[in-house]
Amino acid sequence: MLNGRKYRYVFLIGFIVIILMFLMDSRFHVKSHLKVLYQESVKSLTQEMGEERRQERRSEKRLKQKIFAFIHTFPPYHQTRAKAVEMTWASRLDDYVFSTIQDDKNLTNSRFWLWDRVKAAFRKTYKEKGNDFDWFMKADDDCYYIMENIREVLSKYDPNEPWYLGELVTSGYKVYPSGGTGYILSRAALKKFVTALDEPKTKCRKESDEEEDIHIGNCFRYANLSLIPTVNKEGRHSLIPINLKDLVPDVLERNVFTKWYTTKSKIKVKTGKDCCGPKLMAVHKVTYQEMFVYDYLLYRVQIADLDDLDD
Ligand SMILES: *[C@@H]1O[C@H](CO)[C@@H](O)[C@H](O)[C@H]1NC(C)=O
Ligand SMILES: *[C@@H]1O[C@H](CO)[C@@H](O)[C@H](O)[C@H]1NC(C)=O
Repeated sequence: MLNGRKYRYVFLIGFIVIILMFLMDSRFHVKSHLKVLYQESVKSLTQEMGEERRQERRSEKRLKQKIFAFIHTFPPYHQTRAKAVEMTWASRLDDYVFSTIQDDKNLTNSRFWLWDRVKAAFRKTYKEKGNDFDWFMKADDDCYYIMENIREVLSKYDPNEPWYLGELVTSGYKVYPSGGTGYILSRAALKKFVTALDEPKTKCRKESDEEEDIHIGNCFRYANLSLIPTVNKEGRHSLIPINLKDLVPDVLERNVFTKWYTTKSKIKVKTGKDCCGPKLMAVHKVTYQEMFVYDYLLYRVQIADLDDLDD
């Protein structure tokens, strides 16, 4: 017979076993997610807030053109950056997937595979989604997008022509769209790009390395894609490949990012208030905490109209 004390022990051990099983199960769950190159989203991990967002997304009035994105992330960032992306700007796309990698032991070398990853994701996107959307976007988990401003620009271009959107920077004599703010390809551009990759005499690089955006630049040129201008008449940029804190403050310490962008931008970029256009489209090097802050300031805060006050 169990006396009261033993009963408590049995109960306690049972309880611990159940908790452990639960933990192991959810760990298993996360792991199985990491094994796919493409994962639908981190939805299951952010169910509640995700649902609210999806409601918002359905009810939002949007321009006709449909935009699909694959968003590069990396196992250590699934719970932070990927979640933040999903809970903020990604909800304003027509559809998206996260492109991640196997959680194996080769993580330290992961940058080496960047070019292969981007090519694989574009090929897969073309094969599986190529006819279902007008525009196709490669994005990173540390970039914040203002989708409404992107839609406004894209709505002026025909997706059946080979257009792409990107921020041109230079490295020596090479000109290429900075990988940080990503690339958005029209339906026709996606087809030309993916076809060009496999042409017998292609000039698109075959072997992988980490200079993905430089190879993108070469390959887009080879495939004859045309750039959509993103710098306005006053020379203000709208795809910003560094954090705004390294560009906007007038009392700027010119750190390595500021120097890189102001010297390497294809079209001259100013620091201070005139850096960026009012129709800002993207900012790179954003922390996941900042994503929530941007989203809050842009979509939730209302500025009081003092002219409306009664006397
Ligand atoms: C790990 O990466 C290196 C390249 O950096 C590669 O040569 C090697 O085959 C990879 N190992 C595995 C198990 O994928
Ligand atoms: C790009 O345009 C040039 C000049 O019109 C043409 O010769 C070439 O075949 C085109 N390349 C591709 C990959 O379509």
